Amino acid sequence: MTDHGTQLAETAQAIVAPGKGILAADESSPTIKKRFETINVESTEDNRRSYRELLFTTEGANEFIGGVILFDETLRQSTADGVPLAKILTDASIVPGIKVDMGAKALAGAEGEKVTEGLDRLRERLEEYHELGARFTKWRAVITIGDGIPSDYCIKANAWALGRYAALSVEQGFVPIVEPEVLMDGDHDIDTCFDVTERTLHYVYRALHDQRVPLEQTLLKPNMVLSAKDCPTQAGPQEVAAKTIECLKNTVPSSVPGIVFLSGGQTELEATVNLNAMNQVGGSPWQLSFSYGRALQATTLQAWGGEAANVDAAKKVFYHRARMNGLARFGTYEESMEQEAAA
Ligand code: 13P
Repeated sequence: MTDHGTQLAETAQAIVAPGKGILAADESSPTIKKRFETINVESTEDNRRSYRELLFTTEGANEFIGGVILFDETLRQSTADGVPLAKILTDASIVPGIKVDMGAKALAGAEGEKVTEGLDRLRERLEEYHELGARFTKWRAVITIGDGIPSDYCIKANAWALGRYAALSVEQGFVPIVEPEVLMDGDHDIDTCFDVTERTLHYVYRALHDQRVPLEQTLLKPNMVLSAKDCPTQAGPQEVAAKTIECLKNTVPSSVPGIVFLSGGQTELEATVNLNAMNQVGGSPWQLSFSYGRALQATTLQAWGGEAANVDAAKKVFYHRARMNGLARFGTYEESMEQEAAA
């Protein structure tokens, strides 16, 4: 491997070092607005900064958080005291990352399906992000399960874009996080989720191979294999763990250093319990970790409520959630630990 390649492989490994995972704090402007609405906080630039500053300055969270994904605006922001947020992270040995896709848009000729955009001028944007301190990237593709979908057309279009994005990221000195998310919306069962996830990951790794992406310099961010939200029978954590690992073993090369799951609408507790169950199975060739957005922030957001007076209490909540997921990385989490923290 070249020095460049070795450095990226080491960055990938550092992000998913044992006990660590990723905080996804890269909500786009419309998404953070939605999150703030749940706590009746207006989405101003200053409120967004205060909230992200709270997360990033939580002391001790770096024991469990190896990387944070940022949105463009956040990478350009500084703390109230004028320190760039990216520097706050780097000084705490947390790798700053950046969401570089421009969102999922309607896929032409494919009713109800989406393709992620953002490849135009990506090389130039990456050059700037590198100067701003980011060292990994994220691109999210969305696959919807429904009547007669996903089509192969949709999966292939998204897989190819993920490959193009990943190749450019590596070229420009970033570890690409490859995120093909099979949504848990609908009423399909866990076996349908298994089949669609398997089909998607096959195409994704084919596309990465075709586009010469060095897998040891990448991370995968997939959905867990789950029963859909409205499915009448809900699979428990042991079944989720067994089927997710089986699906990944069928599709993901062992040279990928880490798999960082998205939470995708699971509750905080479900996301922790399921990750814990997977790490109890053991014997996987990759680090099995987290890259949670909602499942790391839901209770913290509530505890903060937009009030400066609540910042310390909210930091405690965030530290606790990060720690629970850090324990789930070793399969040593127990639900009773939730009570200990509350006491
Ligand atoms: P959730 O964990 O809330 O699904 O968010 C993770 C993410 O980054 C989605 O792109």
